[in-house]
Amino acid sequence: MPSAENPYYKKSLISVDDIKERQMLELLLEEAKKMGIHRQAKEALEYLKGHGVSLLFYQPSTRTNSSFHQAAQFLGASVYNPGSMQYSSVSKGENLPDTIRSIANTTDASLIVLRHPDDNSSRTADKFAKMVKPEPVPIINAGSGTLEHPTQALLDLMTIYSKMQTIDELKIALVGDLLYGRTVKSLAMLMARLTTGNEFAFVSPDQQKFPQEYLDKLPEGTSYTETEDLDSILDWADVVYMTRTQKEWFEAHGQMDEYEKLASAMQMTTERADEMHDGSIVMHPLPRQTELRYGVDSDPKAAYFEQMRFGLWTRMALMKLMLVEDPSA
Ligand code: NCD
Repeated sequence: MPSAENPYYKKSLISVDDIKERQMLELLLEEAKKMGIHRQAKEALEYLKGHGVSLLFYQPSTRTNSSFHQAAQFLGASVYNPGSMQYSSVSKGENLPDTIRSIANTTDASLIVLRHPDDNSSRTADKFAKMVKPEPVPIINAGSGTLEHPTQALLDLMTIYSKMQTIDELKIALVGDLLYGRTVKSLAMLMARLTTGNEFAFVSPDQQKFPQEYLDKLPEGTSYTETEDLDSILDWADVVYMTRTQKEWFEAHGQMDEYEKLASAMQMTTERADEMHDGSIVMHPLPRQTELRYGVDSDPKAAYFEQMRFGLWTRMALMKLMLVEDPSA
């Protein structure tokens, strides 16, 4: 496949809007499927041999960090991952552009994966990484602020595709903190634009509603409802995507009283999972608090542990597509 047909090659992934077309999405899902087959056979791959992948995480992470790290290693890359930027020169006041240029140079990175609390962090990083010599370094946004988490949306879609055999004509309920949660925004925007016939329910307390500017951005004709009543969507939904109340953002906005009131407002319990129809699934990006009860874990509808494995495969697929011009070779 010539590079013109690999739209990921040497391009940054800052937003789900960078996944321009359905075909581009399908290329990634198919590649992720292949990565799953490689992993099941425990094959050592060399697609990224000689490449450096550097992980810069300014916010806590378990799944995103570990899966990117392993994904790069399983593809044969060498990985720089300090785990947290807490001990870097960031504590001496170094700014993001200097850190990006330093890491690009000292680690000879072919790719930088960035998680950061600022909404514009990945875009800023990308601007400076584009100036790195001898070659620009693409950035992958591994979660920025409250607005974007594009690789989570991709792995969520991979999960839906694998579990439901389709990403179209489904009923999707997005539940919990739709105000501060970034995963739900990225997933809803990606699905609404590149899938067909899906219906969405935005389920949250009034204070955590999916922001109006995001509702306004949904493509015309997108079918959705908003409700505060979790019980009302249980037997309707094919996918119930739970999210936690984002404590850190309530803290940052001085809203801890609100947080205490909202933290346990929406809960997936074993009784509620029983109300869901056969073949439906419960997803959650994790970490969880009280919104996803541990009893649900043994229900066959619980898809959130597999979701993590799909995350590994999806991130392998993404990095391969970004660094290998002809992915079919
Ligand atoms: C999410 C995140 O960082 O936005 N975590 C993840 O990447 N799996 C969800 C969250 O923190 O609630």
